[in-house]
Amino acid sequence: MARRRSGELFPTDAPVAGADLIGRADSVTALTAQLEQHFHRIVTGPRRTGKTSVCQAAVDRLRRRGWYTVSLDMFALASLAEVAEALTLAVLSNRSTMKKVLTKARRTGRTIAAATATTVTTRMQGELGEVVEIAFRPGIADRDPHRYFLDALALCERVAERDDRQLVLFIDEFQEFGAERQPYGEVDRLTKQMRSVLQKSDRVTCLFAGSIEHLMAELFTPRRRAFYRFGGFFSLPPIDDPDWRTGLAKRFARDDCTIDGDALTLLVETGEGHPRATMLVAQQAHAASLAAETNRIDVNLVREGLALALAADAASLDSDVDRIRRLGRHTFLLARRVAHGDKPYVGSTPSSAARGLQALRDAGFVERAGRGAWRLSDPLLRRYLVDMPN
Ligand SMILES: Nc1ncnc2c1ncn2[C@@H]1O[C@H](COP(=O)(O)OP(=O)(O)OP(=O)(O)O)[C@@H](O)[C@H]1O
Ligand SMILES: [Mg+2]
Repeated sequence: MARRRSGELFPTDAPVAGADLIGRADSVTALTAQLEQHFHRIVTGPRRTGKTSVCQAAVDRLRRRGWYTVSLDMFALASLAEVAEALTLAVLSNRSTMKKVLTKARRTGRTIAAATATTVTTRMQGELGEVVEIAFRPGIADRDPHRYFLDALALCERVAERDDRQLVLFIDEFQEFGAERQPYGEVDRLTKQMRSVLQKSDRVTCLFAGSIEHLMAELFTPRRRAFYRFGGFFSLPPIDDPDWRTGLAKRFARDDCTIDGDALTLLVETGEGHPRATMLVAQQAHAASLAAETNRIDVNLVREGLALALAADAASLDSDVDRIRRLGRHTFLLARRVAHGDKPYVGSTPSSAARGLQALRDAGFVERAGRGAWRLSDPLLRRYLVDMPN
């Protein structure tokens, strides 16, 4: 019988579907419950730890409970005009008329404008305002991105009210609003206007997620910021070892594989609780089992999985190291010391070490592991740094 593909069993490059999450049941339930209470939530955390997966699972649950939902990924949206367009389309897609139009456009390979009867657009515009036009005529938002974006934001409440629904607005990679290169325009002005629209939107509950933690904190915690006290922070706790054990064993079982107890222990230890790293090592151990034509995963296959995982990630680990070097004069040295478990303060002056560690933390490479203690966020990067020749 044909074996299952390793990348399907253990995905590492995309968010995981709610039903496929390992652990996290409590997080999804808690997040959903808080959103249901109309509490805005801000989910922050290191890269590749499951923020998008958990948020989307909560959003999907709300949808099943009758909510309207909107999900935006700021990484995919290069300008404010694009954001306005995507937002409008996403809000309108909650309605069955719009869903039909979209399906038709997709089926016939035509643009949404061509697939829509003029009467439909006119009616929608009459009901919901001029802004809906940008859903049908791509490019039109370029005329005045700022205004169209704010109108699209206000459209969330209008549609929710008209249809007597609650709406969850999930914006992923929210830190992009505050990014230094200001892809969407001046951050203070824009966020103040966003807040004022959202404050008038009683039916709209916001879920914002982002990975560059200090940037997210910078947008939401200082008093002078527009989103000061806008919502509560929600962070994902580590996934428990027992959850990993059960979840990974079940995943292997989908391909009729068994995993030895000591191999499972080694696998969970190797992943150091980091979701994506754990999944990648499991994926590569599974790939090694395909090559060895066996259905039994033992410690040797897990060891091989780790070596293959490091090789698979070599290019991105290399560019991580490059970035670490460019962060500051001592940052590479500091990262290596942290990787080795040595005190990062030895050698250079305390203040320059503190600055370097802060830069490493801001870039998402290291995190605090208690008072004065630091650790690499990604266990694969840690090993890579340890294994690098001097
Ligand atoms: N609960 C989980 N069960 C299994 N794998 C998980 C889980 N959470 C995260 N992962 C792994 O981490 C990867 C990234 O997940 P996701 O995109 O949700 O994380 P993220 O924190 O949003 O990442 P990013 O920082 O890139 O936005 C997944 O492809 C998967 O390999
Ligand atoms: Mg994400």
